Amino acid sequence: MKKLEELYRGKAKKVYYTDDKDILWLEYTDALTAGDGDKVGSEQDKGKLNNKISALLFDYLKEQNVDNHFVKQISDNEMLVKKVEILPVEVVIRNYAAGSICRRLGLEQKMEMPFPLVEFFYKNDDLKDPLINKEHIKLMNLATEQQVEKMEEISLKVNEILKQLFDDINVVLVDYKLEFGVTNDGKLILSDEISPDTCRLWDKETLESLDKDIFRQDKGSVMDKYTEIYDRIKGRLN
Ligand code: C5P
Repeated sequence: MKKLEELYRGKAKKVYYTDDKDILWLEYTDALTAGDGDKVGSEQDKGKLNNKISALLFDYLKEQNVDNHFVKQISDNEMLVKKVEILPVEVVIRNYAAGSICRRLGLEQKMEMPFPLVEFFYKNDDLKDPLINKEHIKLMNLATEQQVEKMEEISLKVNEILKQLFDDINVVLVDYKLEFGVTNDGKLILSDEISPDTCRLWDKETLESLDKDIFRQDKGSVMDKYTEIYDRIKGRLN
């Protein structure tokens, strides 16, 4: 497979075309951003950990019959993925209260949700990714009603699978963001990445953060904690 020109550059990933029209080449970078890009940093080899963690999780989800864009890992910080058109809707699933929902609704930090809470955000940097509902999605034609139902259904299935997986390795899956895309043949599938950059993960015993909150809250290097997450997942899945 040949890597061709750059298609897109995100905050922590670069996407390239390949000589196969159905496959893209994803490179995870070491950049760290928070607050919709207001805070920027980087840590050497962070991209490698997110690539390897995403690869393990996407592979595991595939085994559990959750179709997704992952094709294969090709180096420490690169993977091949199915080419999709990403929908401009971010789906956030919350099992415990943390982050923006506490600021928005005044919920007590660490409150357990009585059910997995699904929220939608409009993926738009200029507007700082605002919270939206299904009617906004319809109004702005961001996705069809069928796609919204499917995203919700897949997100809840992913939640059951990942909550259990993380519980097995003594980690609380607090919340996370998923993105979906449409393949060249019109199928909606789970895409983007699933890593400590896009999830809140707490150690079950100490409730210490093992995710990007370390960077958001200036609590030092993320590398030890991201490595810890990788090692625990790898240990569970091998
Ligand atoms: O900021 P907020 O509390 O809404 O984030 C909820 C979850 O979604 C967190 O795990 C966060 O890392 C993730 N997220 C993300 N990318 C965004 C927004 C949120 O990965 N653009």
